[in-house]
Amino acid sequence: MKKHTVKITVNGKEHQSEIDARTLLTHFLRDHLNITSTNIGCDTSQCGACTVLVNGESVKSCTQLAVQMDGAEITTAANDQISDIEVIKRNFHESHGLQCGYCTPGMVMSSHELLKQNSNPSDDEIRDALHGNICRCTGYHNIIEAVKKSAAEIREGAAS
Ligand code: FES
Ligand code: FES
Repeated sequence: MKKHTVKITVNGKEHQSEIDARTLLTHFLRDHLNITSTNIGCDTSQCGACTVLVNGESVKSCTQLAVQMDGAEITTAANDQISDIEVIKRNFHESHGLQCGYCTPGMVMSSHELLKQNSNPSDDEIRDALHGNICRCTGYHNIIEAVKKSAAEIREGAAS
């Protein structure tokens, strides 16, 4: 099968890879780059466990081909260079917003996108932003708390 050369920046590092045209972005991240925090939770594009940011916008990476990402900047929950992502991850942990953690990387990325656009979201706005992410464990209450705490911390950080 013909291979395609792509240059994709992931979490600030550029990768040049030879890939099949059929390679999904999820598989590129997991199998080519070993970023296994980007999870695959369904085969129907519904669960959001695979959510990453592509050029700053949240995308279900199981719905994209990696060849479409040539030249793109991808951010995943494994990025430890962006302090807001670290704040959100810590608050999911401290607020018990995760149990098995399978949905968490996608939740974190959708929350990060929300908080970049809206620094003080209401509960309904958080629910709306996360409606594409399914959690099978937590009942969502603690996830909402985690996002609200993160929003407050990030606002304080921006103010100080
Ligand atoms: S694995 Fe992508 S939406 Fe479920
Ligand atoms: S923590 Fe288990 S699916 Fe969300």
